[in-house]
Amino acid sequence: MPSSVMSTSKRGDSRPSSAAVSAVALRKSYGDKKVLDGIDLHIPAGSVFALLGPNGAGKTTAVKILSTLIRADGGQAQVAGHDVAADPQAVRAAIGVTGQFSAVDGLITGEENMLLMADLHHLSRSEGRRVAAELLERFDLVEAAKKPASTYSGGMKRRLDIAMTLVGGPRIIFLDEPTTGLDPRSRHNMWGIIRELVSDGVTVFLTTQYLEEADELADRIAVLNDGKIAAEGSADELKRLIPGGHVRLRFTDPAAYRSAASALREAARDDEALSLQIPSDGTQRELRSILDWLDTANVEADELTVHTPDLDDVFFALTGETTVPHQPKEDAR
Ligand SMILES: Nc1ncnc2c1ncn2[C@@H]1O[C@H](COP(=O)(O)OP(=O)(O)OP(=O)(O)O)[C@@H](O)[C@H]1O
Ligand SMILES: [Mg+2]
Repeated sequence: MPSSVMSTSKRGDSRPSSAAVSAVALRKSYGDKKVLDGIDLHIPAGSVFALLGPNGAGKTTAVKILSTLIRADGGQAQVAGHDVAADPQAVRAAIGVTGQFSAVDGLITGEENMLLMADLHHLSRSEGRRVAAELLERFDLVEAAKKPASTYSGGMKRRLDIAMTLVGGPRIIFLDEPTTGLDPRSRHNMWGIIRELVSDGVTVFLTTQYLEEADELADRIAVLNDGKIAAEGSADELKRLIPGGHVRLRFTDPAAYRSAASALREAARDDEALSLQIPSDGTQRELRSILDWLDTANVEADELTVHTPDLDDVFFALTGETTVPHQPKEDAR
């Protein structure tokens, strides 16, 4: 059942802003395979939009259509106010694209890659040098700038890739899986870079496999499944769409566990882990009533943890072929 919810921006900006990207009924098939089966998008300027979906869902296909690399079979899309089919040149002039697979040329140096981009954007030689130097500095690539890009680590290549995307000063950037293959530190650095771009007013369209990344960065998230947008909203709104919040009580003493289990008949039991799960929305009021209830029942748990549904739960609930019983995960501590 598709669902869609409204949201206001993460930065508390509720003014209606013009769309940087909009699409209506976008369709694309490869042979018999319907990859996009009627996609609608509305991405306000200056916001971060994350497209999530399992492998093969059509994320890269959507990015390619919106960035004019391929044409849709049907529907309409506008990027930066220009129709992608009617005026691809104008779209290209306004956007930057970092593909899932790197555009970096390994045979030349990082600096030469940047200067090549400056040439493609028709910057003058001196302007090209200035922009390249500035971006190499910003992406912490000054030391590596004179070395062949083939000698760069995966994270350095990713940074160079995004730096190259920014040479033309795009107002809208498409980042197809910007942090895939990066270590946690590089991933956090990349998030910082993306946030900086957004604070400069750039609109970011990103695809990702990492739900945490969408949670961290995106004002709005859409989950693509089976050719359609299965759900769209802010991270919080998506989390509210699915059940799964609970309080978990853990016991070390099997006798204490058994007596608690018989006192709390509503709780789901996990006899092996000696833990009980009580459904809860995680609000203070509910927690207080659970604690009161435990006191009354004279239950003394060794550990009490609150689990709110995260985007992983949303992802599994919306993209699963079958309904998988909710598996409580270890809560981060
Ligand atoms: N040029 C092509 N010819 C035929 N089929 C294609 C082509 N490009 C993509 N597909 C198919 O379209 C579907 C969607 O591919 P796409 O690359 O958009 O998925 P994705 O969501 O980006 O996946 P991933 O998470 O693996 O990057 C896949 O089934 C893919 O095999
Ligand atoms: Mg892809």
